[in-house]
Amino acid sequence: MNKLTVKDLDVSEKRVLVRVDFNVPLEDGKVADDTRIRAALPTINYLLEQSARVILVTHLGRPKGQVKDELRLDPVAQKLADLLKKEVVKTDTTVGEEVQQAVENLQPGQVLLLENVRFNPGEKANDEEFARQLAALADVYVNDAFGTAHRAHASTVGVAKFLPAAAGMLVEKEIQTLGEALQNPERPFTAVLGGAKVSDKIGVINNLLEIVDALIIGGGMANTFLEAKGYDMGASLVEKDKLDLAKEAMSAAEAKGVKLLLPRDLVVAREVAENSEYKTVPVDRVPENWKAVDIGPETAKTYAEQITASKTVVWNGPMGVFEIEPFAKGTEALAQAMAEVEGTTIVGGGDSVAAVEKMGVADKLTHISTGGGASLQFLEGKPLPGIEALRDK
Ligand code: 3PG
Repeated sequence: MNKLTVKDLDVSEKRVLVRVDFNVPLEDGKVADDTRIRAALPTINYLLEQSARVILVTHLGRPKGQVKDELRLDPVAQKLADLLKKEVVKTDTTVGEEVQQAVENLQPGQVLLLENVRFNPGEKANDEEFARQLAALADVYVNDAFGTAHRAHASTVGVAKFLPAAAGMLVEKEIQTLGEALQNPERPFTAVLGGAKVSDKIGVINNLLEIVDALIIGGGMANTFLEAKGYDMGASLVEKDKLDLAKEAMSAAEAKGVKLLLPRDLVVAREVAENSEYKTVPVDRVPENWKAVDIGPETAKTYAEQITASKTVVWNGPMGVFEIEPFAKGTEALAQAMAEVEGTTIVGGGDSVAAVEKMGVADKLTHISTGGGASLQFLEGKPLPGIEALRDK
C-alpha cells in the first residue's frame, strides 16, 4: 500500500483518533454480531502496546444527524471492553466539553469511545468545522474503518486534512488482499455476483469483465439477464429498464472471451415466504405468477464446479432469497464450494458472509471482507475516499 500505515507513526503516549466501523447489528440492546469489532482489535491492541491514548470514533446505523437513543454506542462499548478485557470509557457526545474532559483524563494505554458520530449533522456533510473539532482531540489520525471507506464524511475524510493520517491494520489487510486479487490474480479467476439488482452491480460487472476469466451471475439480478436473453421470468423481480445493460454486459463478455455463467434451472415460488409452495424448473419453464427465489440444483452444481476449478474467487451477493431457509440452498452450495478452492477466496457483502459463517466454512477462506458497499466500490475499480485521504508514504 502506498499510504502511511499506523506502524509508520510514532504513537507512544500520543492521542490517536481511530476511525473504526463498529456499525454492527444490535438485538435486544446487545451486539448481535461482533465481527467488525473483532476485526479492529489488531490495530487497537497495537496502539495500546505502544502506550497510545486511543480515542475511537464510529457510526452506528443511519440516525440522520439526530440523537437516537436506540443507536447509542453503550452496547458496543460493553462488547469492546469484553473483547479487550479492559475498561472502555464512553462519552455521551462526540465533540464538546464532555469529550475534551474525557480526552484530558485519558492516560497512555487507555481506550475512549466517542458517541455515535452520525448524531452530528456535520459528519455526513463532511463539514469542515466538525472535522476540525474531531481533529483537535488528537495528535494523529488512523483510519481502520474499511467498511466506511467509500463514504466521504468528516470522520473518514475531513479529519485527515488536519492531522498526520495513516491506515490501520484492517484497512491495510483489506486493501492488500482485494488489491492483489484484482491486480495480480492467480488464474483461472472467477467472480461470483449475486443480489437483487443489476443496477447495484453494473459498475462491478463492467470492471470485472476486464479482469476475470469467468463471471457467475445469480440472485435476483440473474432474472434480468435471463429476460434479456428472451426467457419469460413470470412474476420474478426483473429490472425492465436494465435489459439493455444486461445485453451489453453479455456482448462484452463474449467479445473479451470471459465465460459468463447464468442459471439453467431455478427454484420458483408462488410467494417469497417461508411457507410458500415452491419447485425447481428449467429457466424456460418459469410459470406465470411464480417468482424465481434461488438458483436450481443443476445450476448450483455447475457454479460449484467452476468455483472449485479456479485459483482465485471473489464472491459478493447471495444466489437467492437466502433469509428464507428453503431458498438458501444455492447460496449454501456456493459457500461450500468456496471452502474447497485450492487458491485465494475472498467474500464480501453481508449475506454471502452470513452464508459462509452459517456453513461453518469461514475459516477455510482466505479473506472475509468487513466491507459491503466499500468492497463493491473497490471491485468497481473506483477509489475509496477514506483511503485516498490518507497520507502517501
Ligand atoms: C456498512 O455497513 O456498509 C458501513 O458501515 C457503511 O454504512 P452506511 O451504508 O450507512 O454508510
